[in-house]
Amino acid sequence: MIRAAITAVSAYLPEYILTNQELETMVDTNDEWIMSRSGIKERRILKDKDKATAFMAAEAAKSLLKKKGMAATELDLIIVATVTPDYQYPATANIVGDIIGATDVWGFDIQAACSSFIYALETGARYIESGRYKKVLVIGADKMSSIIDYTDRNTCVLFGDGAGAVLLEPSTDETGIIDCKMYSDGSGRKSLFQKAGGSLHPSSLETVTSKEHFVTMDGQSVFKVAVVKMADVAEEMMQRNNLKAEDIAFLVPHQANKRIIEGTANRMGVSMDKVMLNIQRYGNTTSATLPLCLYEWESQLKKGDNLILTTFGAGFTWGAVYLKWSY
Ligand code: ACO
Repeated sequence: MIRAAITAVSAYLPEYILTNQELETMVDTNDEWIMSRSGIKERRILKDKDKATAFMAAEAAKSLLKKKGMAATELDLIIVATVTPDYQYPATANIVGDIIGATDVWGFDIQAACSSFIYALETGARYIESGRYKKVLVIGADKMSSIIDYTDRNTCVLFGDGAGAVLLEPSTDETGIIDCKMYSDGSGRKSLFQKAGGSLHPSSLETVTSKEHFVTMDGQSVFKVAVVKMADVAEEMMQRNNLKAEDIAFLVPHQANKRIIEGTANRMGVSMDKVMLNIQRYGNTTSATLPLCLYEWESQLKKGDNLILTTFGAGFTWGAVYLKWSY
């Protein structure tokens, strides 16, 4: 059986840092509240009006190709995980292909809210496993600042912008993506969503005036389900693969809330020094959180390390991937 392996990782983060102190001047909030409830200290914001998700995704892709010494034309497929595509259509993946000069490639976007990257990783892995595709670029990128209402303290403190990319290739040994389990439950759709802009409530003067193009979130109801489901699926992944806590080199969790991450690590019996945690610096970058973690911890990873990636997002959507690091 052909197995898919992550063979390179890279990322892009905008320069502008939006701190809790700056947010204090924008809405009725404070650093203590944000830190204690979410673990977030600052987040990056893409300020340029003429740049968006495709730009960040392409920057991450370009630096990955450079690192790997590879031409964009060698890619077979580009999958972009995002909830903030540049346009409703065409797909952001098509735009990224054009920017990086991948002339002999096809691509598409995947949207599963904060689970988008893990859904895209599983999808990309299946294309590699089919034997037909040799180099699949999976990018998680979001310009969350484009759908956040910076007068709504419930949401504006949580999110940030960024992009991360991984290259999938056929594994040449026993390493790579070993197992994956995804879930979704659409009955949770009203707890976290963007009310307008889709076919049910197309954009109109009315929808814009009533701010229906921004993130609407009932934080507490999302939190209650997230803290259980993310831990459940991570534990399930360990049991399915006979993994004990000491077998796991790193837990790679979606960065939505430090308390959800601690709950998951606790249930797995994994200590916090084995948890990739950068929420304090970037907040929730939605589709970019997992590749951003892999990028930042890359130098600490060793070939054969067991990693559990896990996530929870709007939908509801959640899932986990078990992989052995390949380099
Ligand atoms: N500053 C100060 N006070 C605030 C702020 C703020 N930024 N935001 C809310 N509050 C207030 C609320 O109004 C409320 O006040 P009240 O009691 O007077 O009504 C109080 O703080 C408590 O609010 P809660 O919502 O109960 O706070 P909670 O402890 O639940 O933390 C949080 C809120 C951080 C949003 C948490 O619920 C959470 O992380 N939820 C899950 C988010 C998540 O996982 N999202 C999924 C991924 S995102 C995606 O898929 C796109």
